[in-house]
Amino acid sequence: MRPSLAFRGEDGLPILRSAKCTHLGCTVGSDVDAEGRILCPCHVSFFDVKTGQPNAGAPAKEPLPSIGWVLMDADLNIVASRSSDGAVHGHIDPTKADQLDVYIGKPQGGRSS
Ligand code: FES
Repeated sequence: MRPSLAFRGEDGLPILRSAKCTHLGCTVGSDVDAEGRILCPCHVSFFDVKTGQPNAGAPAKEPLPSIGWVLMDADLNIVASRSSDGAVHGHIDPTKADQLDVYIGKPQGGRSS
């Protein structure tokens, strides 16, 4: 399992990202600053949590990859999912989000980052 980070988006849905910096592979931190960014301390790249994009002028030039997920209820019904390209299917009632479990699937036909 590669290092990854999990956040809750403003819509209540999970945001899962690889924690492997796209510059030289250090593990990025998990503290989110006031601008919604996380820091790779090795050579100082900031990554936007929502988009994964590095800041302008950062050593990292590529975004932190998104990791797909599935939200399931207690009866194992899929409530919502997000593919690794960011497409979301389904929606959740934010008041019931804490009753759902997050599952991470192995990518189909490709490799994860
Ligand atoms: S390894 Fe992250 S900025 Fe260089």
